Amino acid sequence: MIVEHESRIGQLFDSYVRSWGPICWRDQCAKIQAPINCEYGTMLYALGLIETDSVVMRRKLAATRADRSNPIKQFNILWLAEEAEHGRALEAAAEKLGVRSLTFSSRRSIRDLRSIATWPALYLSGFLVPHLDAAYCTLGSVQEYIALTTYRRIGEKLGDPALDGLLRQIAQQEGRHMKFYRGAAQVLLEPRQARRVTAALLARLWRPPGVDLFGLPKWLEIFRPILEDDVYVGRLLRADDLLADLIGDSIARPMKRFLETNQTLLL
Ligand SMILES: [Fe+2]
Ligand SMILES: [Fe+2]
Repeated sequence: MIVEHESRIGQLFDSYVRSWGPICWRDQCAKIQAPINCEYGTMLYALGLIETDSVVMRRKLAATRADRSNPIKQFNILWLAEEAEHGRALEAAAEKLGVRSLTFSSRRSIRDLRSIATWPALYLSGFLVPHLDAAYCTLGSVQEYIALTTYRRIGEKLGDPALDGLLRQIAQQEGRHMKFYRGAAQVLLEPRQARRVTAALLARLWRPPGVDLFGLPKWLEIFRPILEDDVYVGRLLRADDLLADLIGDSIARPMKRFLETNQTLLL
């Protein structure tokens, strides 16, 4: 990475680090009075698992050497700490709605199959293709946007003030994560080749958060109740605008394509 890029991303990290820190969720969670709701409880539990799974993403990142930049490395340490706390908070919130566990069978086989198809390829490309860090930060910004959108909408839909407050706290941190990733992506995507590589990788590998973890059928089953909500879907589609702003119009609209492809499975 060129020194000027590293210094600009360092400034983004300095700004993020001023307000980083775990959320205070235990008291807030104790105040939740929403009735038992298995659909949304399951969704919150699943979101908690996705948060905790971030550690796997970090390992993938190290394997692809996309965090060669010092400020991105430092950011990742704090980011993971915050995501892990989100996982604990969401698990506790799910319990308040009556859900304490979630069974899904094929996690390992799905993950391993996908890994064979994708991550070693990225690992290899780490040697051949520069700009993997640009793809990583672009991916980070879109996944954080989806996370914050999901938390905001679940809070609005359930209407319990304490749960909404808790989800807003989490969403606010996702917003700060998104700000760092998007800012870093803007810097790293300046070379045209970086935009080309990122567009190609995302077109091939992008999936909404959690699809890799649960497998598509289970993911659709878990998130079906909120995917039937037009307001939520409208907000999700803005993820494509975010990508187009970063990469340019050459990027296919992956969220639109994903939702259209799976529309029949949701009916
Ligand atoms: Fe999170
Ligand atoms: Fe996040």
